[in-house]
Amino acid sequence: MTPAIRDMVDFQPADLYGLFSDVYSSSQGMSETLEDKFPDLASFRKDLAVLYGLPGAVALVVEIAQKPVAYVIIRPRKQSRLRHTADLSMGVAHAVRGQGLGGAALRAGLERAFAAPELEIVYLMVRSDNTPAIRLYERAGFETLALLNRDTKIGDSYSDGLLMRTFVDGQPGWRTAW
Ligand SMILES: CC(C)(COP(=O)(O)OP(=O)(O)OC[C@H]1O[C@@H](n2cnc3c(N)ncnc32)[C@H](O)[C@@H]1OP(=O)(O)O)[C@@H](O)C(=O)NCCC(=O)NCCS
Repeated sequence: MTPAIRDMVDFQPADLYGLFSDVYSSSQGMSETLEDKFPDLASFRKDLAVLYGLPGAVALVVEIAQKPVAYVIIRPRKQSRLRHTADLSMGVAHAVRGQGLGGAALRAGLERAFAAPELEIVYLMVRSDNTPAIRLYERAGFETLALLNRDTKIGDSYSDGLLMRTFVDGQPGWRTAW
């Protein structure tokens, strides 16, 4: 079944906040916690308004039974000399992981990025032990630029990070057919 993919702006912030809470609380693979990023619904709502106003921003949601179950955000950087670059983040609700929805969301997001004249380069950070995410990113054409040793610390335990990049100003170059 091809999942329905819609613009994030079509969804209620409270429903999206529920999805983000699910993704963050069920994954050790994120370097930030939801509390770091969006301590409450009001801060989340404010951030969405900023995101939607950035030229070239991509914010998509995978929907099942009218509910948001996955998201991909490609957020252009604000600085005037960096606006051709953007940072990607994504997540899939824990109950529906491993069913290809992450791949579908990523592909749709990158297709939008290729179509956005403002965007040339997409970066992302991922933990080096987040195998499902790294597989997705490599298949979509991301390359690893750097291994950041001991980038994340949870209690006494460290994890390495990967800085990855893909160019979105040419033809889409999916490594393999999805
Ligand atoms: C990473 C994430 C977005 C992947 O989405 P998904 O819908 O579960 O992924 P898919 O079903 O499209 O599968 C992606 C790939 O990972 C593989 N995979 C899925 N679960 C896996 C697991 N537990 N271990 C190893 N590989 C796994 C799949 O087989 C697939 O690879 P393949 O197509 O080569 O077989 C999702 O797991 C998630 O939201 N995780 C928590 C948040 C997160 O880590 N976000 C990214 C931060 S940078």
